[in-house]
Amino acid sequence: MGAGIAQLACQTGHRTLLHDPEPRALFGGLDRAVSSIEKGVKRGRWSVDESVAAIGRLEAAPELERMARCDLVIEAAPEELELKRGLFARLGAVAPEAVLATNTSSLSVTAIAKGAPRPEQVVGMHFFNPPPAMKLVEIVAGEDSSAAALEVATGVAERMGRTPIRARDSVGFVGNRCARPFTLESLRMLEEGLASHEEIDRTCRVGGGFPMGPFELMDLIGIDVNYAVACSIYEQSGGVERWRPSRVQERLVAEGRLGRKSGRGFYEYPDVGEHREPDPGVDGERPVLDEDELSGLAGRGAPEILGRIAAQIANEGCFALGERVASRGDIDAAMRLGFNWPLGPLEWGERLGWSRALAILEPFGDEEHSPAPTLRELAAG
Ligand SMILES: NC(=O)c1ccc[n+]([C@@H]2O[C@H](COP(=O)([O-])OP(=O)(O)OC[C@H]3O[C@@H](n4cnc5c(N)ncnc54)[C@H](O)[C@@H]3O)[C@@H](O)[C@H]2O)c1
Repeated sequence: MGAGIAQLACQTGHRTLLHDPEPRALFGGLDRAVSSIEKGVKRGRWSVDESVAAIGRLEAAPELERMARCDLVIEAAPEELELKRGLFARLGAVAPEAVLATNTSSLSVTAIAKGAPRPEQVVGMHFFNPPPAMKLVEIVAGEDSSAAALEVATGVAERMGRTPIRARDSVGFVGNRCARPFTLESLRMLEEGLASHEEIDRTCRVGGGFPMGPFELMDLIGIDVNYAVACSIYEQSGGVERWRPSRVQERLVAEGRLGRKSGRGFYEYPDVGEHREPDPGVDGERPVLDEDELSGLAGRGAPEILGRIAAQIANEGCFALGERVASRGDIDAAMRLGFNWPLGPLEWGERLGWSRALAILEPFGDEEHSPAPTLRELAAG
């Protein structure tokens, strides 16, 4: 992530320093960033008059001097609270005037900022993978973040050509939280025997306009990685039932079926790492199909499959809106830009119809499908 963010910063005209304590990671990241920038320059995609440079040690005087002149430092170190706190303590001492941003996906920005000498200079700047391609940046205000620091982070994200959205410092922010039901509801349907993973994937892609089906996505990300994120979000939430990790994933991880990287996950990959082509004619850009088209295309169970996923996505968007995690427009933009979804969660609710979404969820009568108060209000008109 660090190399990708450095590439993006540099190609949008920011003089950029890249630091990593591991020389291999530092120079590997620098090489990747520079060669991508050079390719872009050759193709005329951008002209670069600024530079990206590597700094290896935060102890050496010349490097500290260069670091001290930075306006913004973006941290993308491993996802460990104590490591990040220690790093922010040093960064605050090295660059006392800079805004310090963390790219954390799941830790509390407020908790990380407690490590800095001036917590008001710390904000969250959550980029999506790969940073040069994904347009979304979640700007997260910790309890102590100053308005000035948030403004700097927002301005830089805009100058990087990204769309910044403002997210409250809360579990999974907007993106990783609202993405939960896409995989979790699909895993529930698989466990119930409602449909096979192939049917669910095809329905999501062909009928829902998602760029990938949930099981293809889990195989791509790595089922172990996706399961670890699910466990972390569930634990940090204090056990929100609808975020309980799936036993299907737990079993696959225990069996070593991790997805593409291990040759087998939900699908089989005879050549490890092989790229699996989507169905011919499906490019992920399709509009969402209406019910008649969908049932004609993918069989009788398809509206039910897509209806449950869409209702649960809309429901999570409503919980996020009700808990003031972000504005309605920002919640939708986050999922379109950060995950390439065809519609954001609230847009899914509109598309489905709020009373229909409620009618899909209510009969379950369980915690996992319990409708959000905001969804009930929207359904009541
Ligand atoms: N991978 C993703 O898709 C993704 C997406 C969004 C956000 N993030 C977040 O970005 C951060 C980095 O994730 P990643 O996937 O790039 O991890 P990674 O393990 O690939 O990279 C982390 C890098 O940090 C370096 N590092 C270790 N200690 C350090 C220190 N004290 N100071 C500076 N660098 C140090 C490591 O050498 C390594 O090169 C995490 O907070 C993660 O949650 C990741």
